[in-house]
Amino acid sequence: MTITFEVIHKDIAGRVGKLRVNDKAVRTPALLPVVNPHLPLVTPREMQEMGVEALITNAYIFRRSTEFCDRALAEGLHAVLDFDGAVMTDSGSFQLSVYGEVEVSNRETLEFQQAIGSDIIVPLDIPTPPDASRERAEQELAVTMDRIREAQALFPDANLAGPVQGGIFTDLREEAGRAVRDLGVAFAPIGAVVPLMENYRYQDLVRVVLAAKRGLSPATAIHLFGAGHPSMFALAVAMGCDLFDSAAYALFAREGRYITPYGSLKIDELAELPCPCKVCRSMTANELRQSEDRERLLALHNLHVTLAEIARIRQAIQDGTLWELVDERCRSHPRLLAGYRELLAHAAELERDDPVSKRRFFYRGSETCRRTEVLRFHEVVPRIPLGERVLVTFDGREVPGFDTVLNFKPPFGPYPVELAETFPIGQSEVPDWDDDMVRSGCAGIRALVEAHPEKRFAIRCADAWVRIVLEEVPGAEVYREQV
Ligand code: GUN
Ligand code: ZN
Repeated sequence: MTITFEVIHKDIAGRVGKLRVNDKAVRTPALLPVVNPHLPLVTPREMQEMGVEALITNAYIFRRSTEFCDRALAEGLHAVLDFDGAVMTDSGSFQLSVYGEVEVSNRETLEFQQAIGSDIIVPLDIPTPPDASRERAEQELAVTMDRIREAQALFPDANLAGPVQGGIFTDLREEAGRAVRDLGVAFAPIGAVVPLMENYRYQDLVRVVLAAKRGLSPATAIHLFGAGHPSMFALAVAMGCDLFDSAAYALFAREGRYITPYGSLKIDELAELPCPCKVCRSMTANELRQSEDRERLLALHNLHVTLAEIARIRQAIQDGTLWELVDERCRSHPRLLAGYRELLAHAAELERDDPVSKRRFFYRGSETCRRTEVLRFHEVVPRIPLGERVLVTFDGREVPGFDTVLNFKPPFGPYPVELAETFPIGQSEVPDWDDDMVRSGCAGIRALVEAHPEKRFAIRCADAWVRIVLEEVPGAEVYREQV
């Protein structure tokens, strides 16, 4: 039994990778649909035909099922499900968090998951709800860690997932991440985030996930437990989450909800089916609404949309355009925008993982000024070689009497002509300058000025920018452009 994880492409802290479990390969980011054997709206075989390489099911449901328990023990999980990709089993911790007690021990669920041939097994971790006190979060985290250690001692060769808990407390999450890292697990789910997502607490989600990631090893595959709505996948991937499990495609279908990458819609309120999937192109909204097969057709559509978003994210990572996708998705709900802004507030730590060169950089408004590429530019600006008298020119025209003339491109800042073709100057597209991007560019000038206090600096710019330039680069010598 083995799990290995190989990172192939990176963007922000996101990665395209290959997870290998036993003899199965899973391209990541990946979506693991949740399969309930009692009501398979979409069968695992159909999922496989849609490109699903891994799924997740609940060991607790199998264990209690008169219909499936003995069969799973005799034939194995893959045969019962009719699926030969990777199958992960969850322990029943989710039931524990929803219904209180579950009548199964850590050892029993692990033994059962092994016995039915699960590819990735999960101990009986404790999902601490967000409103729990610090004391409770600490105590439950200690139990979770004991159970992971017990699992390793009982089944040293198993493909064990090491859940990261810690409630809403970022220091506990980071500590939990470090403890899981020190146990050497190759697969770590971040747990107890469902209530945050259900309540649109994306800002807290970002804090908690980034804290866990700080403790975890970059070589570990990260699963975000219970994250199933495609509108938040890009945000989660940007933080370094590699796998998701979704029951949303089925739960939403049951409630007559039609998933799109930017939110979900009530099927009763739809006049059109704005989606290229085969369900939506084969019938009208009215026909879907009135179909006897409505729940299954909606589930199929929901799954198609969810899988397509995962594919789009993998492509964006390879293209170096994940920030643009995060920006796009997070504008579909103000609370997602709050999560995006929280992510940007952590740009300094994300910048360490972010590639130094990308195919392109599109300016999409003031948030763009806080992206990793801008931050990195401001960090390297002090290394530009300078003469004694330095002119930064906004319009490319010179003023006599300077040893060094630098051009200016917001939101980055000053650059020597030799860098005009290199990333990000050469690959960035910006619209007509706005105040935010000019302020950000001026922060680049300020970084240069502060690194060279002995030199003389002047800025040549249009009247319209003089006020901002003087606010951002106090004491600057300014030449106004003649218009
Ligand atoms: N499903 C959703 N959240 C969790 C969690 O925190 N732990 C486990 N085991 N399953 C989950
Ligand atoms: Zn569709």
